[in-house]
Amino acid sequence: MSVNGKVVVITGASSGLGEAAARHLASLGAAVVLGARRIDRLTGLANELVAAGGQAIACEVDVTDDAQVRDLVDRAIDRHGRIDVMLNNAGIAPLSPLERGRVEDWSRMIDVNVKGVLHGIAAALPHMKAQREGQIINVASIAATRIVPAAVVYSATKAAVWAISEGLRQEVKPYGIRTTTLSPGAVATALADGIREPDIADAVKQAYGDALPAEAFAEVVAFAIAQPAHVDINDIVFRPTHQLI
Ligand SMILES: NC(=O)c1ccc[n+]([C@@H]2O[C@H](COP(=O)([O-])OP(=O)(O)OC[C@H]3O[C@@H](n4cnc5c(N)ncnc54)[C@H](OP(=O)(O)O)[C@@H]3O)[C@@H](O)[C@H]2O)c1
Repeated sequence: MSVNGKVVVITGASSGLGEAAARHLASLGAAVVLGARRIDRLTGLANELVAAGGQAIACEVDVTDDAQVRDLVDRAIDRHGRIDVMLNNAGIAPLSPLERGRVEDWSRMIDVNVKGVLHGIAAALPHMKAQREGQIINVASIAATRIVPAAVVYSATKAAVWAISEGLRQEVKPYGIRTTTLSPGAVATALADGIREPDIADAVKQAYGDALPAEAFAEVVAFAIAQPAHVDINDIVFRPTHQLI
C-alpha cells in the first residue's frame, strides 16, 4: 500500500516527467532504476538521489533498441531481484503538419513513443508474470484523444499507447499485474524543444503558458503505485485547470 521499497524502472528519466518521478519516488523510499540516452545526466541524478539516502542506479538505454531495454530491466533484477513497476515514459514530440512531410520525424516518434513502450512491456512482463505481480505504467497524453493540426503523428503514437495499455490490461489479468495509462495535458518540460518548425514551436510555447510543473506528474505516478495491490488504477487524465483542450 505504499511506494516504499518498490523497485521502479523509469525510461526517459534524464529530464522532465521521468526525472521528476524518479526524484519523488526515491524520496518515498522506492529503489529507482533510471534509463535514458544521456548517461551523464542520469548518473548525476542517481548520485544525487543516493547522496540523499535513496537507492538509484543509472543505465544508458535507447528505448528503440529492444535488447537495450531488456538490459535495463535486467539491471533492476540483478541489483534488487525483482521489478515492481515499469514506467514507460520516454517520448518525443517533434511536431509538424503532415503537409511538410517530415517523414523522418514521424518514424522517430513511432520508434520511441510506440516501439519504446512495447520494448518496455516485453522486457518487464516475463519477470512480472513469474512474480505474479507488478505494475506497468505507460505515459500517453491527452493528445491521444484530442487531435489538432501539427500534432497528428504524435497523437497517433499516443493513441497507440492507449490501445496497447488497454489490451495489456486485459491480457495480464490472470497474472495479477496492474496496468496504468497516464495522459497528461501541458506539463513544463523540454518536450517542445524537439520541434523543428519555428511557427509550431512558437504556438506550442504559447499554449504551454499555464503548464503544470513536472512534480504534478510525479504525484500522480506515486498515487497509482501506492494503491493497495487489489486496486488497479487503469487510466488517469489530468491537465492544468485552465487548459481547454
Ligand atoms: N510535457 C508534456 O506536456 C507532456 C504531455 C503529455 C505527455 N507527455 C509525455 O511525457 C513523456 C516524457 O516527456 P517529457 O515531457 O518529460 O519530455 P522531456 O523532458 O523531453 O523528456 C523526454 C525523455 O525521454 C527520453 N528519451 C527520448 N528519446 C529516447 C530514446 N530513444 N531512448 C531513451 N530515452 C529517450 C529523454 O532522454 P534522453 O534524451 O537522455 O534519451 C528524456 O529523458 C513523453 O512520453 C511525452 O510524450 C508529456
